[in-house]
Amino acid sequence: MDIAVIGSNNVDLISYITRMPQEGETIEAPDFQLGCGGKGANQAVAASRLGSEVLMVTRVGNDLFADNTIANFKANGMSDKYILRTDATSGVAPIFVDQQSRNSIIIVKGANALLTSEDLQAAREDIARCKLIVLQLEINLETVYAAVDLGKELGIPVLLNPAPAAPELSLERVRSVEFIVPNETELSLLSGMPVDTLDDISNAAGVLLDSGIKNVIVTLGARGVLWVSEEGEKLIEGNAVDAVDTTGAGDAFIGCFSHYWVKNGDIAESLRLANYYAGDSVTRQGTQKSYATGEDFHQRFAHIF
Ligand code: RIB
Repeated sequence: MDIAVIGSNNVDLISYITRMPQEGETIEAPDFQLGCGGKGANQAVAASRLGSEVLMVTRVGNDLFADNTIANFKANGMSDKYILRTDATSGVAPIFVDQQSRNSIIIVKGANALLTSEDLQAAREDIARCKLIVLQLEINLETVYAAVDLGKELGIPVLLNPAPAAPELSLERVRSVEFIVPNETELSLLSGMPVDTLDDISNAAGVLLDSGIKNVIVTLGARGVLWVSEEGEKLIEGNAVDAVDTTGAGDAFIGCFSHYWVKNGDIAESLRLANYYAGDSVTRQGTQKSYATGEDFHQRFAHIF
């Protein structure tokens, strides 16, 4: 087993809009996509499509969405052993994407909020066989802390994507993670520092390093990523693409980075490939629907391997 993703799954309801409605106004959206999403599931699906063996630990509800989500995990090569059914609604995410490919997302956590540290203990033996644990913040924070502690106890590196931004996240309780992967907004919130320039971002990343975290990888959208560690910092530039929908691009990036890092242990190279994979995903509509398989990725980008 390569990667354990402990996190969320949602059903994404994406409306493509020409502009945001005013308060009290009804507008028509020219296009709509229904798809499987949720930051945890997205990252797991990206890694699995690229060829990693992924263990997904998550909770679904007791509704029709749950059946579809379970089928989707299986169709993407994952076991449903720890896709736990819960007496709640499944997580859902109504999403609006405008013509500049900017998105607004509402998350209804539903069953995701009910994933517990006991659930992790039940999956412990299987998690122990993984080489990386991947976490996000769409589940209960106490469960995130329990997963960080479990990784430390088992000697498995942990990657934390502190998204969506959570002001109450305790840096102290996640200081043992190997990788933290925030975007600029999340970095500013976690560090309490401005992120207006690359120098600002580097200083803000320094606050996270000072807490004990080994690698801070700041995603900068189309500009690429800034990787900051004790050894120094490296800007890995993004690749120009015509974006139609950036929803889930950060998750594509993390799934791809995790896949390659587990394979080759080379952070800079894995970041470089993840930039291409995420960039490719924004050229298509949808979240998971926009993620390439390993075969497609190699075919489309043969020149980068
Ligand atoms: O990062 C994109 C994801 O955020 C969507 O799939 C949505 O479900 C929300 O979790």
